[in-house]
Amino acid sequence: DWTIENFIEMEADKIRQQVGDRKVLCALSGGVDSSVVAALIHKAIGKQLTCIFVDHGLLRKNEAAEVTKTFSNDFDMNFIKIDAADRFLSKLDGVDDPEQKRKIIGNEFIYVFGDEADKLEDIDFLAQGTLYTDVIESGTDTAQTIKSHHNVGGLPEDMQFDLIEPLNALFKDEVRELGLQLGLPENIVWRQPFPGPGLAIRVLGEVTKEKLEIVRESDAILREEIALAGLDRDIWQYFTVLPDIRSVGVMGDARTYDYTIGIRAVTSIDGMTSDWARMPWDVLEHISTRLVNDVEHINRVVYDVTSKPPATIEWE
Ligand code: XMP
Repeated sequence: DWTIENFIEMEADKIRQQVGDRKVLCALSGGVDSSVVAALIHKAIGKQLTCIFVDHGLLRKNEAAEVTKTFSNDFDMNFIKIDAADRFLSKLDGVDDPEQKRKIIGNEFIYVFGDEADKLEDIDFLAQGTLYTDVIESGTDTAQTIKSHHNVGGLPEDMQFDLIEPLNALFKDEVRELGLQLGLPENIVWRQPFPGPGLAIRVLGEVTKEKLEIVRESDAILREEIALAGLDRDIWQYFTVLPDIRSVGVMGDARTYDYTIGIRAVTSIDGMTSDWARMPWDVLEHISTRLVNDVEHINRVVYDVTSKPPATIEWE
């Protein structure tokens, strides 16, 4: 009968048969799906798997370090981390259109990943974290057309690999169970959805280092407080956004003129529709106080009370 343990044994066997003594490449984003794929394939073939992790400098606080620790240290995988923050930031310089930002990030990702993959020799297979829902959705047009979803993890079209997609019969909850069984930490297995273009689409308009820092710090505080309140499994996705708004405030005796930060927290099944999360007022109050006190350049906090539709989950 079907159990996760049996699934792991059977899939690992299948992967060993298919791969033989050849090599597999995996684009690791740190998201649930690519992480579970990497862990499963690593269990099957160990060092015949190489993972490439592109740090585009648009990740959340501590994320790159956590991914590196898990895969490079704890799992001891062949793990290549590319620090490409400066490249991405300079490509984004002066760009304020959301779709343009997505396009630039998607293209740069392919370029950086492809460059690194080219240096590796004798790679025959590419592992991807395609789930059952991705399989049944592709072909139909249920995928987002309102925003071009350049999923970081997209790949150079001219690369010739055979695909390995060991999760393509599984649903998300099964993938999480599988991840836990394979020894992945809870912070990866229960990671909330995070867009490929990362924090770049949460700094509205032009992305600067200073603004990225504000959104990164505020996001870290929001996540910490949501977890402390025990709401992290109930709220589907939660993050902060930095609109290009400054307003007047007062701190101590002084007038301030600083940024407004927005909190977005939604409940959803699949991201196609969503409702704003009815989180307790006192949790919101606490978050607001911390954001203003602990993050420089924030003097006002607003909560987004729009469902999807008509709004989207992200602000860009
Ligand atoms: P929206 O904002 O369209 O988002 O309501 C729905 C879900 O998709 C995520 N999202 C993205 N994911 N690349 C991604 O990989 C993108 O460009 C992108 N834009 C939005 C969003 O975080 C939410 O979970």
